[in-house]
Formats: sequence, C-alpha cells, structure tokens
Amino acid sequence: MMEKTLVIIKPSAVQRGLIGEVIHRFERKGLQLCGMKMMQLSEEILLEHYAHLAQRPFFKRIKDSMMVTPVVVCCIKGFEAVRIVHDMAGKTNGREAAMGTIRGDFSMSVQENIIHTSDSVKNAKQELDRFFKEEEIFEFEPCGLHFLYANDEI
Ligand code: PPS
Repeated sequence: MMEKTLVIIKPSAVQRGLIGEVIHRFERKGLQLCGMKMMQLSEEILLEHYAHLAQRPFFKRIKDSMMVTPVVVCCIKGFEAVRIVHDMAGKTNGREAAMGTIRGDFSMSVQENIIHTSDSVKNAKQELDRFFKEEEIFEFEPCGLHFLYANDEI
C-alpha cells in the first residue's frame, strides 16, 4: 500500500548539521520526499503532538528540547512507508538503536534522538495534518518509479 508518513528532523540534528544526511538516507532508500519545510514549533503544537506523554516525567524536557531551534518537517511517501521510515529511525534510545539505523549511527540519547517518525498509519495521517497544510504536500510521479517497484506494488 502506498503510504505517506511524517518525519521531524529534531533540533539535535539541525544543530549538528545532519539535516542533509537524514534526508539523503530516505532518498537513497527509494522513498519520495513530497513535502518539506523548516518551522519553529510552538508550545501549542507540541502539547498536541506529545499529548500521549503528558504524564511522563520527561514531558516538559522533551517539549522544551523541540523548541530550541527550528525543526525540519518532511512528508515521505512510498510503499509501506510508515513502517519502513520508522524502522530506518531505529529504537527510540540512540544507545540501543542498531548500527545502520539513523539513531544507531548518529545518536547517544533517548531525547536527543535526531528524528521523530510516525509509528502507525493512523498516527501518520493525524501527524501530517498537524504539521502540513494540504497545499504543502505535493503529488507528482517520480520518473524512476518503475525502477523502484514492480507493477503489482504500485
Ligand atoms: S513511549 O511512550 O515511551 O513508548 O514512547 P517512545 O516512542 O519510546 O518515546 C516517545 C518520545 O518520548 C521521548 N522520550 C524521552 N525523552 C526524554 N527522556 C526520556 N526518558 C524519554 N523517553 C522517551 C522520545 O525521544 C520520543 O520522542 P519522539 O519524538 O517520538 O521520537
């Protein structure tokens, strides 16, 4: 199934000059970037985005850490993209994430863990709506599509 998912390139990656590296990995995999913008996150949007963590002791810390610099939000499209992108990020804790994953290669932290990725198709839809306006997501066919997938996959 063709899916779209959300990636937030966090302040930890922005500050360390890893924006290009992260995007490069998704592009090399064959995923399509169909929306991307830099934005300063507000308290309001983070209260909504991390609402499920509101009772956790680190809630304020992670929320504050997401506002230290602007972030880059990306909409990434591909066959089963939600799972693939989430797997490419690796385990939440960078110290436990497997080598070869984004966090495994670039993070030593649970909080400063480079990127956020949607963890289900339902959440991906909700999160994309939260961070993107409809007109900021672009529908276009990559010219290499038929070299990325067999006909029955697209
Ligand atoms: S959960 O609910 O804990 O299973 O969720 P998880 O996907 O592991 O983590 C959700 C986000 O919370 C951040 N997190 C933390 N921040 C600071 N300190 C601690 N201990 C901590 N544990 C989890 C983690 O970076 C996740 O952020 P996102 O943006 O979802 O990657």
